Amino acid sequence: MSGLDYQVCIAGTGSYVPEKILTNEELAKRVDTSDEWIFTRTGIRERRIAAEGEFTSHMASNAARKALEQAGMEASEIQLIIVATITPDTITPATACYVQQQLGASNAVAFDISAACSGFLYAMKMSKRMIADGAFENALIIGAEKLSAFVNWEDRTTCVLFGDGAGAAVLRRAAPEEGSILATEMGTDGKLTHLLNIPGGGSACPITESNVNDHLATLAMQGKEVFKHAVNRMKQAAETVISRADLQPEDIACVIPHQANLRIIDAIAGRLSVPEGRVFVNLDKYGNTSAAAVAIALDEANRSGVFKRGDNIVMVVFGAGLTWAAAAVRW
Ligand code: ACO
Repeated sequence: MSGLDYQVCIAGTGSYVPEKILTNEELAKRVDTSDEWIFTRTGIRERRIAAEGEFTSHMASNAARKALEQAGMEASEIQLIIVATITPDTITPATACYVQQQLGASNAVAFDISAACSGFLYAMKMSKRMIADGAFENALIIGAEKLSAFVNWEDRTTCVLFGDGAGAAVLRRAAPEEGSILATEMGTDGKLTHLLNIPGGGSACPITESNVNDHLATLAMQGKEVFKHAVNRMKQAAETVISRADLQPEDIACVIPHQANLRIIDAIAGRLSVPEGRVFVNLDKYGNTSAAAVAIALDEANRSGVFKRGDNIVMVVFGAGLTWAAAAVRW
């Protein structure tokens, strides 16, 4: 233990979504569904789909450039890059290595983490600790996904839910009068791996022609079960960071939850007793972009002035693993 505990702030955020919009109406021409079913069950109206030749790393780098610009930093100053993704460009090397190259961030250590929708806040907790300990002065954390490459487009129970995109944040050592990541929390329940997974494509089930035909390399989910756990775990995680940061629900200017389903978000908002209208939602435009979702939402809320310097915000996420995480931040 170094014994150091530097204050760490979020110095800049950025996000990127592909140009191509896929609406619920368009999806209803491919599978037996409707805008009415999708919107009432999830709150989603449309999602973005990466272009041919547009990879997770490209979206990640585009989001990162905006975060660096807002932080007033050059890529060469970045010391650590963590990309949270379950849809890497390649199994190895890490997508973070492609991002390092694309940004010209040649002085950064770069690696990926795999924690599904919770990945961005896992990356925030890890990098916050590494900066607080004095190991690094700054970090670029990114949630980026090209889920369109891992969705079974014939399965209406999953294909309507997901989209592509990326969000990024620059963390750095802060002065006392600047913002601060006040508290973080993360958890995992590996007994529930079966509820949400991509069964094929790893060493347990290498890709073969037959399992590709059986759609084993695409996302499979027991939605109802995931829903229940999501509400409970996100509520607990958010309450933990609010209490650790010594805040009351009314002190929170904005809650930014994982953007998977509006009914999950509403259920959590009700249970947290945060004043109405303080929960940020953008899933109608993007669907569930897994690790990117909370990062894109953070950037949109930041840039649209939903909160200001000195406000307290809480981010809370949930995903495959099962995994969950939360962070309380003084902006
Ligand atoms: N269009 C029309 N009908 C549909 C569709 C569709 N797209 N999908 C399912 N249905 C049908 C089902 O077949 C079922 O029909 P049946 O009653 O005849 O059997 C009916 O609609 C109800 O299906 P349910 O699965 O019970 O619907 P539910 O209300 O649970 O909503 C949903 C499904 C949206 C997936 C919900 O369970 C959910 O959001 N779960 C949580 C997802 C989540 O939060 N994931 C987080 C992490 S994601 C990650 O980590 C990558």
